[in-house]
Amino acid sequence: MSSTETPSASRAAQLSSVPEGDARDRGGPAQPMLIVTDLKKHFPIKGGMLNRTQGHVRAVDGVSFNVLKGETLGVVGESGCGKSTLARLLMHLIPHDGGEVLFDGEAIGGVRGLTMKEFRRAMQMVFQDSYSSLNPRLPVEESIAYGPRVHGMSGEKAKELARELLTKVGLKPGLFAQRYPHELSGGQKQRVNIARALALEPRLLILDEAVSALDKSVEAQVLNLLRQLKRHFNLTYVFISHDLDVVQYISDRVLVMYLGEIVEIGPVDAIYDHPKHPYTRALLASRLSFDPAERVHEAPITGDPPNPINPPSGCRFRTRCPMAESICAEASPRLHGAVAAGMHVAACHVQNPGSGHSLAGKAPVLVGKPKAGAAALAATA
Ligand SMILES: Nc1ncnc2c1ncn2[C@@H]1O[C@H](COP(=O)(O)OP(=O)(O)OP(=O)(O)O)[C@@H](O)[C@H]1O
Ligand SMILES: [Mg+2]
Repeated sequence: MSSTETPSASRAAQLSSVPEGDARDRGGPAQPMLIVTDLKKHFPIKGGMLNRTQGHVRAVDGVSFNVLKGETLGVVGESGCGKSTLARLLMHLIPHDGGEVLFDGEAIGGVRGLTMKEFRRAMQMVFQDSYSSLNPRLPVEESIAYGPRVHGMSGEKAKELARELLTKVGLKPGLFAQRYPHELSGGQKQRVNIARALALEPRLLILDEAVSALDKSVEAQVLNLLRQLKRHFNLTYVFISHDLDVVQYISDRVLVMYLGEIVEIGPVDAIYDHPKHPYTRALLASRLSFDPAERVHEAPITGDPPNPINPPSGCRFRTRCPMAESICAEASPRLHGAVAAGMHVAACHVQNPGSGHSLAGKAPVLVGKPKAGAAALAATA
């Protein structure tokens, strides 16, 4: 383990300790909340006269990682890289084409382990589009109370809970309980969505671009609310966002996706201060800066991501990578040891001393933002 990993690894160890007294914690504090192994989703593409399957979009293509109890795992990557598909797979909203997800050490929906109903209580999701996530015909109090009622709570109790949760998310029940979604602002609607997700006392929340549609000041309020609620309800978050600053603010660890695969995962400080993968470096370099000395004149990453129906051989980033060599087309780089908590690893041949890449084991790490986009990226090689 490198020197960059030490503080964050101890932070990860602290995070994995769940406060005592949570009766729902079946696996113990050291048991990851989620263990994801080789998860795959290949969407069929139909076409032609007979509407036959002509290929598959490899939206999620063999990802393995853990989510530790009590942590916030940020998920970043370009549009279309498979973040929402991964979220839907974790939630079991769509069937997977391979791999496995364990919740607190237990299988889901099988003969043994958690039933689908138990799992649905334990894991909830908040989506980006706060309006279409709410039933326009129900007052918000009813929307929040609906889930607990379906799970057997009396109507009166469920309403009481809904009012309590509205208060927790900063909306006075006297003012808001009877309003319909169209009578709320975007930030207020998203607070209602969070309250609704919390109504079933979940242990893990997946937030898919949950604050992306909000203006900056409301976004900050909702982010702070999420941090408070996490402590209060002893939650674990998977936080998906395009916004690298928001992910840095809220996450303990970060997972970087590219074209259906994980290219880098590690503690947030290690990823942001010492990114190992050229794609992560390019993503971080494309952040806007207020410092005129750090303005990027050239886009650090150009071109569209390759077609996910027919991704490049070997490393999928090689067609846009300034360090690509022949080995990158021949062999797929692996994430060695990624499943272990707190590790900072990247799927890049340059990171593997035995890979045969001319820069393997030699590439200096770029710290912070490069001054001149692609040239600076290449210079780091
Ligand atoms: N139902 C579907 N059928 C076919 N292809 C799909 C389906 N859903 C998603 N895809 C494809 O899978 C890939 C991943 O999509 P996904 O929505 O997971 O991306 P994303 O990373 O969430 O993007 P964004 O940041 O824009 O939300 C894309 O190429 C998308 O076109
Ligand atoms: Mg998405």
